[in-house]
Amino acid sequence: MQRIYFDNNATTPLDESVIAEMRPFLEQHFGNASSLHEEGRRAKFAIESARRQLADLLDVDASQIIFTSGGTESNNLALEQARPLSQLAVSAIEHESVLQKAKQLSAEGLQCVTLPVDEEGTLHMGALQSYLSQGGQFVSVMLANNEIGVLQDVAAISRMVVAAGGVLHTDAVQALGKMPFTFTQTGAHLMSLSAHKINGPKGIGALVFDKAQLNQPLIVGGGHERGFRAGTENVAAIVGFGAAAELLQETLEQRMQQMKQLTEYLITELVQMEGVDVIAPQAHKIPNTIMISIPGVTGEAMVLSLDQQGIAVSSGSACGANRQQPSHVLSAIGLPKEQHQQVLRISVGGQNTLDEVKQFCRIFAGQLGNRAQFADLAW
Ligand SMILES: Cc1ncc(COP(=O)(O)O)c(C=O)c1O
Repeated sequence: MQRIYFDNNATTPLDESVIAEMRPFLEQHFGNASSLHEEGRRAKFAIESARRQLADLLDVDASQIIFTSGGTESNNLALEQARPLSQLAVSAIEHESVLQKAKQLSAEGLQCVTLPVDEEGTLHMGALQSYLSQGGQFVSVMLANNEIGVLQDVAAISRMVVAAGGVLHTDAVQALGKMPFTFTQTGAHLMSLSAHKINGPKGIGALVFDKAQLNQPLIVGGGHERGFRAGTENVAAIVGFGAAAELLQETLEQRMQQMKQLTEYLITELVQMEGVDVIAPQAHKIPNTIMISIPGVTGEAMVLSLDQQGIAVSSGSACGANRQQPSHVLSAIGLPKEQHQQVLRISVGGQNTLDEVKQFCRIFAGQLGNRAQFADLAW
């Protein structure tokens, strides 16, 4: 059975061309980039080429990029920069890697403020202004949310933070590949990215930074990555990230059109189905993400049932699924508690087709019409 993969916010398939670029560094070129000999120099050259590919995509100098093990580490490293300022503010709908790091810093004595969002997930600018006017300086607000897809006006947030002399970090992990932006356009001083959301490999990410605002390493033990991230570089993964970034530069426009067409079709079909509602319908969103509520059925039961029909979707974020906790994002937008378990996230990718969407709609409508079956599937 040909499966339909609509969980692209969890991860994306590796592109063939990315695999082709990575392969020599898995099979043949094994050198350590810190070594002086030819094998080492080859690895170093490959890393620096990949850094330039990513730098071109974001229109920054290659020296403004630190490779990390992924979005989670980039977020941890970014928030580490709040330490000397003794305080930080994070939005209520940040990824767990921001929220948990903020919690850790708070336990260590930093003052930590959570900035609320409205019912569509948009940041409460008044709360931000109030934090800044009380001397707050470090702010972390994500560009696009992984669960509901809402976009923040990070450029406007940056203007407020900069006027107050502060530092802005943005988690752009879910925005990359779904909308055009450069580092400067966002106005952020620190930006987290992850390769596996853009058809690159897992376990590799980056922190893009304004040179004045990166001072504290997270992982120490070597001079790698300008002393900000110790550890022998994962050359093949870095090469894959660079290749995925270059591919994105060539295909972003077409991918966005494709995702937009698919989600528009999906929304038109889904809202006609009995009891189905789009979460945060008015919000400004990335073009690939739809979260819907499905009364009377748990998201998990629906995910398992669709899985049996060859369809991969999600009942929330992949990280949240490990913990079986109610979503902090849905709480923050004020969705009633009883609805938290009854949501489905559909996140399409540039590789998906209209035929797949039509097939999904047909199968999903059938599943909805036969809700009685779900009593057996819930766990
Ligand atoms: C918004 C956001 N930030 C950070 C991450 C973590 O990225 P990684 O999986 O590369 O650690 C994710 C992953 O789902 C995410 O969606």
